[in-house]
Amino acid sequence: MSIILVLVCSSHSTTAHADREVTEILFNDDQTSGDTTLLSDSAFRRKERKDRDADGLRRLLLGSLGGTTAEMETVQNAGMVFFNDPEGICLYGRRPSQWYSEGFRVPGRTLIEACVDPTAERIARAARDTLTADETPELIVDLFAGSGNLMLHMGQAFQRPVLGIEKDRNVAQLTARNLSLHGTSPSCLRHTDWVHYFTAPCPVQGPCLFVVAPPWQGAFSFERGLDLRRTNPPVLAVLDTIAARSEASRNVAVVQTPLHSDVDAESLRELEAHHRVLHAQPGCLIIDVLGRAPDRHPGAGGEAVLPAMPGPRPRSAS
Ligand SMILES: C[S@@+](CC[C@H](N)C(=O)[O-])C[C@H]1O[C@@H](n2cnc3c(N)ncnc32)[C@H](O)[C@@H]1O
Repeated sequence: MSIILVLVCSSHSTTAHADREVTEILFNDDQTSGDTTLLSDSAFRRKERKDRDADGLRRLLLGSLGGTTAEMETVQNAGMVFFNDPEGICLYGRRPSQWYSEGFRVPGRTLIEACVDPTAERIARAARDTLTADETPELIVDLFAGSGNLMLHMGQAFQRPVLGIEKDRNVAQLTARNLSLHGTSPSCLRHTDWVHYFTAPCPVQGPCLFVVAPPWQGAFSFERGLDLRRTNPPVLAVLDTIAARSEASRNVAVVQTPLHSDVDAESLRELEAHHRVLHAQPGCLIIDVLGRAPDRHPGAGGEAVLPAMPGPRPRSAS
């Protein structure tokens, strides 16, 4: 029996003071970006300033503004800084002016962490095009649901039910409310740690597709790309837990990866030693989750999540 996993990586009401901080940072912005080697001195200085603005905003949204519901001005400012477009943070199939006026809300940190519509659509299409009829999931489980946006796109691509797991209380409350506005039952979201999904998993007899996009935190650098061993929790620990605990007939994982940088080669080799990459493209890896994993992640959640299983499963081909 093999398991298929899809791993996705990737992403708050503000106080008046915090909003002023954001506004000051953002209105310094200019829209220059691209290859610095081709830039004139003044363009280079503008790019440096823009990078500083983006770093400052990222710190705010992951820090003091992280837990509070983002106001429209913050959503638009973030769109401007990260996408050169105040309407850049498209979620739930809607532009910000639309989702905000319809009552959808997200915490500040989700403006950074959420998988926005164009990216989510690309990833969902890649998963649908990669999986064979035998691998088509009966259920899609997003172990790090955040806004739930990627999970909803996956559900739409496969026309299958979804379940999201989200540990952060604020994020979970707002996402549950957003799901109901979207027309999806809020019971499709469980507020708990990802690992607890496996203590009361949904009864899936056919294939199950797992979406894996834990926070990257220090796991990403422009020099080395995304180190799959250093996300929180490590992607490899999550895959191994799926391999060990899921009772689906097959497990596939979609892992979100950077759009414009590589995956750290050593961490990818380590993953490929135990699982099978079915498809890789900028933005995601689609992984056939194979076999029962040994305890390779002491201290990273591995000991808490490894199950009592009768013995190693053969590393069968899919
Ligand atoms: C990168 S975001 C996921 C974004 C999501 N794909 C979307 O489209 O919005 C990661 C999410 O995982 C949540 N998270 C972090 N650790 C977790 C854990 N141990 N269990 C469940 N969720 C967790 C974070 O609160 C955050 O909302």
